[in-house]
Amino acid sequence: MDHSFDIAIIGAGAAGLMCALTAAQRGRSVVLLDHSAKLAEKIRISGGGRCNFTNLDVKPENFISDNPHFARSALARYTPQHFISLLDENGISWSEKELGQLFCDDSSEAIIKLLKDECEAANVRRYISCEVHEIKPLHNTPSTKNKAGELNKERFVIKTSRDTFHVSSLVIATGGLSIPKTGATPFGYKIAEQFNLPIVKLRPGLVPLTFRPDEWEPYAGLSGLSFPAEVSFGKQSFRNELLFTHRGLSGPAILQISSYWEHGQPLSIDLLPGRDLNALFEEHRSSKMLMSNFIGQYLPKRFAEAWLPQFGENLPVNQWSPKKLLAIAEQLHHWRITPSGTQGYTKAEVTCGGVDTRALSSKTMEANEIPGLFFIGEVVDVTGQLGGYNFQWAWASGYAAGMAA
Ligand code: FDA
Repeated sequence: MDHSFDIAIIGAGAAGLMCALTAAQRGRSVVLLDHSAKLAEKIRISGGGRCNFTNLDVKPENFISDNPHFARSALARYTPQHFISLLDENGISWSEKELGQLFCDDSSEAIIKLLKDECEAANVRRYISCEVHEIKPLHNTPSTKNKAGELNKERFVIKTSRDTFHVSSLVIATGGLSIPKTGATPFGYKIAEQFNLPIVKLRPGLVPLTFRPDEWEPYAGLSGLSFPAEVSFGKQSFRNELLFTHRGLSGPAILQISSYWEHGQPLSIDLLPGRDLNALFEEHRSSKMLMSNFIGQYLPKRFAEAWLPQFGENLPVNQWSPKKLLAIAEQLHHWRITPSGTQGYTKAEVTCGGVDTRALSSKTMEANEIPGLFFIGEVVDVTGQLGGYNFQWAWASGYAAGMAA
């Protein structure tokens, strides 16, 4: 069967739902298509099931993009306070956990229900379990705008496993590649290619890092151990928990730095941030405590025992030469290790890279050269740091396109 709508949105995740409700509330007729049987799976599993839906402190610096200023406009027009107000108006309680991160008090399902209800109230037509087979552009020129500059003509025909849709605007909100079992596909990138839009190289972000098995052998037994550390790469540093895994490192500090890390390059880790091990050695120069016990006062003893053998026998502190003590302190505050890779898209929270923002309008998310075609959310080359920033980008970019399409 054939249908006509003002707007088709492909992908009913965070960005797609926000775009749909925004556009439909403006009186546009909207159809929302998703190939999954369940929509917004990533909202459901996010934040340990409680969705870290935004952050109180959102700045452009919290986002990674080849074009760092691109996100500014959309983020300024749909702020964390807008989303907080939406939750408050609908009686969804939330709390700040740490570092400005806001979570639902009960479950992320509350946010999914709210977005679905808002879409329903605004008459968004939803098609789930709907495979998109073909997108056919009809009029690819600006001349299809009317005198008021509105996109009111049929521009795209979308053939799906269910019906065929004729629309004037098409919004791609199919997200990134991470966690394929949630319904992630490369669809959005393929559509960008179909329309000759450039793509910034894709790579997994917010992802655990791995090390060569022979290099990691001394630490593999520490799996599950975690403690605060400061992890640095280039100009970026994050002080947060470091978690040992069988294959390498994870925890918030590592997830954060993973989005900046470049293959083949070392990370520097301060294992005892805020303290000076050298000063502690000087203070306790005559200590007869075994070195593992001495360091074990400040760090988990299991870690000290696994880490110290690189310096030789585990002697009492007073038997180490000043040079060796200096080397231990230096290495503890600047542990340089080179990951061999990441745990990939099956474990990554996000995909870095995506549709090149230089091809999009920062105000509307519309492709500069293809009137009526919009890209929003994670499929775009804008990636947030850990802490609610990725959902804030999904809401803000979804809102921007919803106001324009
Ligand atoms: P999203 O992935 O949400 O939605 C895309 C939709 O498109 C899906 O419904 C999918 O089924 C559909 N789709 C894909 N291919 C399609 C096709 N070919 N045809 C039709 N439909 C298709 N962020 C944050 O800010 N706070 C947090 O707490 C977390 N936590 C978190 C945990 C985990 C485990 C993950 C994997 C990710 C997070 N994130 C997060 C990141 C966040 O979930 C993510 O950035 C947003 O969901 C992106 O929103 P989008 O709407 O762009 O894509």
